Amino acid sequence: MAVTLDLAEIQGTVLRNRPMPYYGAYLLFRVDDAASAREGVKRLLPHVTSAKDWEAPADQAWINIVFTAEGLRRIGVPSEIVDGFPIPFVQGMAARRVFLGDVGDADPANWDWPHGGNGFHLGLFLMGQSEEARAAKLALGHEAMRGLPGLRLLAHLDVGIPPTMREHFGYVDGLSRPFIEGEGGEPLPGQDVTKAGEFILGYENELGHIATGPGPEIFWRNGTFLSIRKIRQNVAAFRRFLRENAQTPEGEEFIAAKMMGRWRSGCPLALSPDRDDPSIVADPLRRNDFKYAQDDPDGHRTPVGCHIRRINPRDALDGTISDARTHRLLRRGAAYGPVLPEGAMEEDGEDRGIVLALINADPARQFEFVQSQWINDGDFVGEGSRADPIVGRRDLADDYAYPAKPVRKRLKGLPDFTVVRGGEHVFVPSISSLQWMAGLSGGIGNSP
Ligand code: HEM
Repeated sequence: MAVTLDLAEIQGTVLRNRPMPYYGAYLLFRVDDAASAREGVKRLLPHVTSAKDWEAPADQAWINIVFTAEGLRRIGVPSEIVDGFPIPFVQGMAARRVFLGDVGDADPANWDWPHGGNGFHLGLFLMGQSEEARAAKLALGHEAMRGLPGLRLLAHLDVGIPPTMREHFGYVDGLSRPFIEGEGGEPLPGQDVTKAGEFILGYENELGHIATGPGPEIFWRNGTFLSIRKIRQNVAAFRRFLRENAQTPEGEEFIAAKMMGRWRSGCPLALSPDRDDPSIVADPLRRNDFKYAQDDPDGHRTPVGCHIRRINPRDALDGTISDARTHRLLRRGAAYGPVLPEGAMEEDGEDRGIVLALINADPARQFEFVQSQWINDGDFVGEGSRADPIVGRRDLADDYAYPAKPVRKRLKGLPDFTVVRGGEHVFVPSISSLQWMAGLSGGIGNSP
């Protein structure tokens, strides 16, 4: 039976692609007083963009509100209800550090403030199609919080798409995402159709169950979770690694492609394994239209250990515990920090990286499984403890291998190209849930 999603209820970022280019900001607040938080939510509610309003947002800018588990408690949702949510959300991402491989430099003790100890409670995510639109929404956000002493801005991070229109390592991003049943429109060739319950509570998931939450239905229905990863990128180390392991610029591009599974233009190796073909990326009907099981079971084109094949094995592992359908993530990625100038082989002291907002209705089965089993381990594809060559941990294995002629090619001594600088699970309530929360009593503090 066809699924109908409550588009007017679901916060827009869950279902809708970000405009290109866009200018965004993450504002992270501390809640010391429930009444202040409820008043702030009440004032912001008319400006929150739903999936229905997404195509024609007020003021050409978008605004969404999220909460950590502690944030829900502080605004007045009873602890017994909050504690009924999935364990990774309730405990917070920092508490799961060993399981997630957030060790060494990536340990939460080293994360950027206020990450690392459930230090923020309420988040506002803003986006505009221009810097002016973002500034206008930011002013509105600040205005809504004015005179609310129990709501304190802790951090403000500007994000967006760099002027190169590529992420910091130089790859075109944002090409592949699942199609959610009921989202509207038609799936593009190669886009897997996923049950809505994988991404939104209140709908059937791939296990055949209705994804639910604790407490009254109005609280959790049409809500979901974002698993957020703030990841610093060491761009100079990445460039030097390519240079040191190739004889020519073309060789560097080839290695970059074998590590990602796509050329830096975005062209998939599956469709053009020997040379880059930007015309494939330019065609939305072709750039994602590939599978692995029949055409490339051993990874001669797209290595089994490369970033995109690990993180979405498509049909390669169907019917196993690693079946992609039950471990899908819907990604919203955004860059922060200035671009390292082209050709620079040393860092310039600037902080730069990516903030990933990974949408999933079951953070244990989806985000945590992908992070621990597919990114930070290689056992599921016979690669032992070898991790993702772009974003994986290096303390257990630091080499990467892919099939080549006449013999398999092994790259040794991969440095840490990335280091996690923050991680949080947040809840994205529906519009009605926000209204419900704004009308609660109890919570922290006691201002009128
Ligand atoms: C610095 C870190 C990262 C960079 C630079 C990066 C970059 C990319 C790029 C360039 C693509 C290919 C474009 C596309 O398919 O849309 C991609 C795909 C993807 N990435 Fe990442 N990524 C990073 C970390 C992560 C992490 C930590 C996760 C999840 C935990 C993740 C999940 C995905 C997913 C689900 C896809 C789509 C694969 C597909 O459907 O074929 N990425 N990433």
